Amino acid sequence: MCGIVGAIAQRDVSQILVEGLKRLEYRGYDSAGLAIYNDNKIQRLRRLGKVSELDQALQETPLPGGLGIAHTRWATHGEPSERNAHPHMSEDNIALVHNGIIENHDELRDELKAKGYVFSSDTDTEVMAHCLHEELKTSHSLLEALQKTTKKLDGAYGTVAIDTNEPDKMVVARSGSPLVIGKGIGEYFVASDQLALLPVTRDFIYLEEGEVAEVRRDGVTILDSNGQKVERDFEKSDIQHDAVDKGRFRHFMLKEIFEQPQVVNDTLEGRLVNHKIIIETLGANANKVFADTKAIQIIACGTSYHAALVAKYWIEDYLQIPCLVEIASEYRYRQTAVLPNSLFVTISQSGETADTMAALKKAKEQGYLGTLTVCNSPASSMVRESDFTLLTRAGTEIGVASTKAFTAQLVSLMLLMVTIGKAQGLEESKEKSIAEALEHLPSEIQAALDQAEAIEDLSERFAEKHHTLFLGRGQQYPIAMEAALKLKEISYIHAEAYAAGELKHGPLALIDKEMPIVVVAPKDNLLEKLKSNIEEVRSRGGQLFVFADESANIQSSDGITVFPIKSQYTITAPMVYTIPMQLLSYYVAIIKGTDVDQPRNLAKSVTVE
Ligand code: AGP
Repeated sequence: MCGIVGAIAQRDVSQILVEGLKRLEYRGYDSAGLAIYNDNKIQRLRRLGKVSELDQALQETPLPGGLGIAHTRWATHGEPSERNAHPHMSEDNIALVHNGIIENHDELRDELKAKGYVFSSDTDTEVMAHCLHEELKTSHSLLEALQKTTKKLDGAYGTVAIDTNEPDKMVVARSGSPLVIGKGIGEYFVASDQLALLPVTRDFIYLEEGEVAEVRRDGVTILDSNGQKVERDFEKSDIQHDAVDKGRFRHFMLKEIFEQPQVVNDTLEGRLVNHKIIIETLGANANKVFADTKAIQIIACGTSYHAALVAKYWIEDYLQIPCLVEIASEYRYRQTAVLPNSLFVTISQSGETADTMAALKKAKEQGYLGTLTVCNSPASSMVRESDFTLLTRAGTEIGVASTKAFTAQLVSLMLLMVTIGKAQGLEESKEKSIAEALEHLPSEIQAALDQAEAIEDLSERFAEKHHTLFLGRGQQYPIAMEAALKLKEISYIHAEAYAAGELKHGPLALIDKEMPIVVVAPKDNLLEKLKSNIEEVRSRGGQLFVFADESANIQSSDGITVFPIKSQYTITAPMVYTIPMQLLSYYVAIIKGTDVDQPRNLAKSVTVE
């Protein structure tokens, strides 16, 4: 989704802005632009396509100046084009960038047109630029004008603006779309994600909802939504520099797939000690809430939703507590009934997904016992809005297709399940058996990764296909769903997942010798049932690719290719079987030559509806 970078310094800032945009490329975008103040005027450069094209244009037409704002745009209102790219300007003096969506843009546009403003783009953002210009006429400062502008906006925004009449500052505002301010020596920066600013600073302040700020060379003034001054200290980021470095890997996605043994270790560190699971940092009164919990409602989107579906199997199996799972975009808009004594859980890698965030806000009005987020971004909106937080410690995930964050979510959800269980008297033997499975998980994941070459060979058999079916049963059904999502996202091959028992109710009609069917077949109580489903497909000529436990006793033969996977523990098998699915999608995408880390039309963090 869109990215913002801004800088005010004694030195030229254009390369700082471009480097910042490059570090946000992973979020997904279709155009890029910047505006630099110099010599009483603002100059703007925008390009459709990659930041490298903007960079190239900047090499040809350098824009010196110590004040500037920049943006990568992911189109919502108006097609991807240079004229719709940010920054947007009003007259020649205001330039503004914006993440989010302004819902009342039509109404505001009509008002502004009536006042004589001429629009040069189809975006909702240009409305903000003209609105700011209009408010300046009756304001004492750019900041005051921004405050008045934000009062007129319905929707979500993270925004930064500059004005030729006040060239000693940037003004910023946040509502529903994150913004961070970074501090250098005699220079300050803003961005939608601190990753963009790591080459220039590690000292950050996050703007809270409804706040506006003035960012100067000598300091920052923050005002809350009532116009009251806010004092907040800069905090050192512990985020790793190499998060945006591919290292020896060809793509971030592959690097992130291979990081998973370490991610599991990190997520377990200090939480799995001496075969016991202890999480002490969820938030005040968490244990009391867990002891009273009689039902759990989980809300998420995409890959995080699949993690929730796996957790449902665990929670109902081990805790015998009803667990409801729903997609955020559905939950937020329907009349929902809350079971008595329910805990509300969101799962999100980014902690900024608009639909999940809206569901969380709705839940807070609905009488849940408490709200908890399982999240990978410590400073995110979801973490701030939830009563309790369980951080997933996957590290920054750059590939748009989520891999290591999913595994970290599953491990975290297992820890959460045990923690809730312990508050309700879960037997020690059950905790011990889960702890043992988790202790072996990093090595089992590593063993699956060691098969990468063989999976690469296998991927050739999918590259020419237009469709693929994934089958699983029980807790592996959501893994089949996740596998189908991965293949769709990065190889653009249509893929669907079915609970294998459901095949005979319709999808069997799709089976012929052209249709590849991938089956996730670990050693569990459903294996024999799954073997019958495999036979149903085989007898109809489908091409089966079965990822099966070595002891499953399924042999490769005509129409069946069996791929052995080692997974000793049933409960952690979803994490282990996820690995070959991720690798398969990755290698198919490589053969197809797609943009693996930034697949077409997708964004890393979906901060709009
Ligand atoms: C996963 O590969 C996707 N890119 C997407 O489905 C993602 O999981 C979804 O948008 C939810 O994001 P979140 O976890 O940041 O809330």
